[in-house]
Amino acid sequence: MSKKILVAYTSKYGSTRKYAEWIASSLKADLFTAKAVKAKTLSRYDVVIYGGGLYAGGIAGVKLITKNPCKNLIVFTVGLANPNTTDYSAIINKNFTPGLLAKTKLFHLRGGIDYNKLSPVHKVMMAMMKGMIQKKPESEREAEDREFLDTYNSKVNFEDKQTIDSLIAYVKGL
Ligand SMILES: Cc1cc2nc3c(=O)[nH]c(=O)nc-3n(C[C@H](O)[C@H](O)[C@H](O)COP(=O)(O)O)c2cc1C
Repeated sequence: MSKKILVAYTSKYGSTRKYAEWIASSLKADLFTAKAVKAKTLSRYDVVIYGGGLYAGGIAGVKLITKNPCKNLIVFTVGLANPNTTDYSAIINKNFTPGLLAKTKLFHLRGGIDYNKLSPVHKVMMAMMKGMIQKKPESEREAEDREFLDTYNSKVNFEDKQTIDSLIAYVKGL
């Protein structure tokens, strides 16, 4: 019998939603926003895939799956930073207990940003982040810092459907 798969997501500006839609359609999974999912709904699925945008070290809406048990848990994050050069350990340790982490398969995907569309609060947060990075001597800036400054106040989109392939292959192999 084929597995029942749920894709749940939290997306503020649409990138995570797009990846969630691609993943759900590739796997013929049910697709819901995290807000629409109840704890008991999670328990009805053999595989739960959760996607959340990265916001200042947090994974949007992640409590849905850190506070409620799921059978096979896969989490994908969507951020501006390049997954090939980003160290996610601080984000992961902040959002997952070691016990949950051991049972979770993680993937990191790349979204985008359009500064014109940011909420006023997010605009202020990004301005503060810029200020903090600019205070660091250039020699101490990480690749993520340089990318942040390069894309500051502009519109960039790194969404790439092919980057879901390893997640799809992993779920098909379960
Ligand atoms: C206030 C704010 C904080 C952010 N923090 C991070 C971050 O810590 N790491 C990262 O890679 N991207 C960060 N981003 C970029 C978002 O993760 C990126 O825009 C992503 O595509 C958003 O997904 P969504 O459109 O599904 O909400 C941040 C964006 C905003 C506005």
